[in-house]
Amino acid sequence: MWRSPGSLPPQPAAGEAAAALRRLAAFLGRALPLCRAHATQLYARGLWQRLVAAPPDAVLQALRRPLREPSGAAGGEWDDDTFSNVFCENSKKLINVHLFALAAEYYSLSHLGVCTPLEELLKALGGDNQGSTGIKTDEFMNNKKSHEVQVMSELVDKIANYCGIKQVIDVGSGKGYLSSFLSMQYNLKVYGIDSSNTNTNGAHERNRKLKKHWRAYQSRARANPESRRSEKANDSPVQNEIKCKAVNERTLNNSCLQSQDQRTTQDLVGSCVFTEIATSETSKQTEIDLVAQAQCNESELSEEALAFLDVLPADAVEISSSRCNSGELREEEKAQRKMASIKAKASKSSESNLYFPLTSYITAETELRDIIADLENCIMVGLHTCGDLAANTLRIFTAKPEIKAVCSVGCCYHLLSEQYENQEDCTEEVWGFPMCQYLKDKGWCCGRNARMSACLALERIAVGQMLPTDSLFYRAVLQVIIEEIYGVTKSERHVGKIFSKSSSFLDYVRKSLKKLELDDSKLPDSCIMDYYEKYKHRMNELEAFNMLKVVLAPCIEVLILLDRLCYLKEQDNIAWSGLVKLFDPVKSPRCYAVIALKK
Ligand SMILES: C[S@@+](CC[C@H](N)C(=O)[O-])C[C@H]1O[C@@H](n2cnc3c(N)ncnc32)[C@H](O)[C@@H]1O
Repeated sequence: MWRSPGSLPPQPAAGEAAAALRRLAAFLGRALPLCRAHATQLYARGLWQRLVAAPPDAVLQALRRPLREPSGAAGGEWDDDTFSNVFCENSKKLINVHLFALAAEYYSLSHLGVCTPLEELLKALGGDNQGSTGIKTDEFMNNKKSHEVQVMSELVDKIANYCGIKQVIDVGSGKGYLSSFLSMQYNLKVYGIDSSNTNTNGAHERNRKLKKHWRAYQSRARANPESRRSEKANDSPVQNEIKCKAVNERTLNNSCLQSQDQRTTQDLVGSCVFTEIATSETSKQTEIDLVAQAQCNESELSEEALAFLDVLPADAVEISSSRCNSGELREEEKAQRKMASIKAKASKSSESNLYFPLTSYITAETELRDIIADLENCIMVGLHTCGDLAANTLRIFTAKPEIKAVCSVGCCYHLLSEQYENQEDCTEEVWGFPMCQYLKDKGWCCGRNARMSACLALERIAVGQMLPTDSLFYRAVLQVIIEEIYGVTKSERHVGKIFSKSSSFLDYVRKSLKKLELDDSKLPDSCIMDYYEKYKHRMNELEAFNMLKVVLAPCIEVLILLDRLCYLKEQDNIAWSGLVKLFDPVKSPRCYAVIALKK
């Protein structure tokens, strides 16, 4: 199809996006009991027997085999009926594992046909990176961040040029990697807003140093490209200086917001941690494997959670949403805003490279004009905006005429607020999920465990990282002991990091019971070991159960992304909206951007 230069690529029509969402929701609706199930309770509640008809070994075998088409159907000819027999109509159990795995692929974004290729979008947006100074991001940040910032900033710059705007609002800007790059590399005027004052201060400092080095770097690069290369090999002074800063900051402040700096400069998986809640039965309970609760206290880290962090994307642990008390922020915000507006006035001059980090907690109701005095036509961006921040970014975009475009990559789906999760809390708040009318009408609820599994980095599991079966097995058997012997089914106490400190199952159980404040003095070793013997041959059940959940995980992420896309399609002031895969998922697993441009 011929398109005039400057026209955007075809976008999924509202009807197409809605149809894709309906089909996926229909499949996931049947699979949800599996997603919501809690591996700690696999034995205690007989989950396998309740949810899966096939034996565990058959499931493992089916899921380890490379996928092939179902007999009689070529991939292109699959339709929703092909997958109608994955679950039994009556028992609701999973009966066809091979079809189940094919279905998970069939309902992936690429197969649903609602994704716009990045190259197509970049080409259509045109432009030739005029403002660009050709600096490489990997000299200023770690590989993951560098990849993200490089790709996203090029796209944001092109969208800004296409819309004829120079102002960018970077929400959840963190330490300002994207913001400072957009301002320095592309001469955009960027306001970075983050709820953490520590991040804002860090961003100020980082930007100040970056600017200094950037200028020196630019003149050096112009004068001698060779010296730049050798400097890079020796680790640039910029990175060294920023690393030093990060270390100092860490010693001063141990908040999870601080540790983000540690991760991003040292490429570590972070210390914003997930903990398990020992025996809670409610929907708030976390699963050991698909762990849920974001904690900033490392001592609360569970062993199983630690093991799982390796297969979670780093973003899943870069949580720092710290719901700040708005009262606490007010004074600081005022000072920040004053400063920003003074700077903004001064910037009416021709100075480029403008980046203003600000502290504010963004909600759907946030008036950007209250934060940014010189708000003008702008693009709103967010790189790994956790939980509701991604949803609220879209809501602000649709509501405010000055915001001409949005480019938002979400993360930390487990932090999303869900309207239909706890019916009793169902007031008139604005919720992170669902956003679109169809899922609202259906009262759709994923549940925390399902959202947690949407945070998994499936690509890392696909390249061989193992799930932490041993520690999960101990924990699942412990759960049986807790329930059968102590009659405890609900507790807010955490088992925590016991597995790696234990010399044996016996030791693990005793240490865990102590941590849970359950008296183990009358519990003989033989009794504990009887439990171990009773369940040890069922370890494969746990492994197979986790594999099923892992296979399903991307579908849940797709549901959340399609919900956001459909919400945008429901608005009448939007000219173009789509989902675009921005990043290499192995480098950066939360790789999809929701993008929209106003009419
Ligand atoms: C995963 S980090 C991403 C940081 C940054 N965009 C990056 O890519 O390095 C998410 C950031 O969003 C901030 N944040 C979370 N909820 C927020 C909110 N409601 N308003 C403002 N900032 C928020 C956190 O403080 C955190 O710095």
